[in-house]
Amino acid sequence: MSNRKGIALVNLDEDGVDLAFRADVLKGLGEAQKAIPARWLYDSAGSELFERITALPEYYPTRAETEILETKADEFAEKIGKGRAVVEFGSGSSLKTPLLLRAISPAAYVPLDISGEFLRAAADDLAAKFPGLPVIPVESDFMRRVELPAEAADLPKLGFFPGSTIGNMVARTSVDLLRTMRATLGEGALLLIGMDLIKDKAVLEAAYDDAEGVTAEFNLNLVHRINRELDADIPVDQLRHEARWIDEYARIEMHLVAEEDITFTVAGSQFSMRKGETIHTENSHKFDPRTSSTLLLAGSWTPVARWTDDEGRFSLILAEATIPRSAP
Ligand code: AVI
Repeated sequence: MSNRKGIALVNLDEDGVDLAFRADVLKGLGEAQKAIPARWLYDSAGSELFERITALPEYYPTRAETEILETKADEFAEKIGKGRAVVEFGSGSSLKTPLLLRAISPAAYVPLDISGEFLRAAADDLAAKFPGLPVIPVESDFMRRVELPAEAADLPKLGFFPGSTIGNMVARTSVDLLRTMRATLGEGALLLIGMDLIKDKAVLEAAYDDAEGVTAEFNLNLVHRINRELDADIPVDQLRHEARWIDEYARIEMHLVAEEDITFTVAGSQFSMRKGETIHTENSHKFDPRTSSTLLLAGSWTPVARWTDDEGRFSLILAEATIPRSAP
């Protein structure tokens, strides 16, 4: 099965079990603070639920970022200029990417994604909207350095990483990714990256625990997936979705909280949870101008411009590949 953010080249055992999924779940459930990597939230049901989340009244990031792309087109054109190869990390969103491409008239568009199916669908969509623009999808894991296609290699580059997906990584992983992006894009590259901003705790917690319960469904879908794919019997109805703002780390954490003492089996191994114990399923870090700068600088990118929506909820930051210096 393809998934939105995860692995396309899956390693299956003779029963069709995804070995990386099983290994991550068994390891994560065995830890003192149970935790499962967030990428497993995105099977096809999870990806569809995430699409629904982006349209929820409480979930402002997608609307706020789209507003910036719609209203600041002239400024993007001025700061970025025409004729770059836009390299998008992820296969592109039907709304945001065309807004950027329209603003800056690029010479090529190169989406990178690990899932070939999503990549080809998004590339075909873009090619139809921009006749004459070379669209060159590359099926690749952008967490590693990607060799760009010859048609784009000699053009100046703009990396595009919208959505504040960087916020789903812990600092060490996001710094690794930023440095890898710099290696993929090369000297002279620019990066346009979305980063969600720190704001009122109640607004943040509502964005990750909406009234309709779609985010709860998205989180609990992980348990349905484990039960279905890993021969497990986790009592889904005894787990509750929770979104917590953790001020010290400036992040929303998603957890699944046990409402009773429970025991269950996953792929032949037994686990138990005490009432109130949780499985940590996602982090979504939020930034302010200084923390976003620090992160970008640590990843070898120097911020040169930033834009926010009218309500100051979300930022798009333009950074240039830092030229290494031997002294301050
Ligand atoms: C994909 N990512 C940027 C989303 C976020 O806001 O952190 C994932 C998400 N999780 C729950 N709601 C949205």
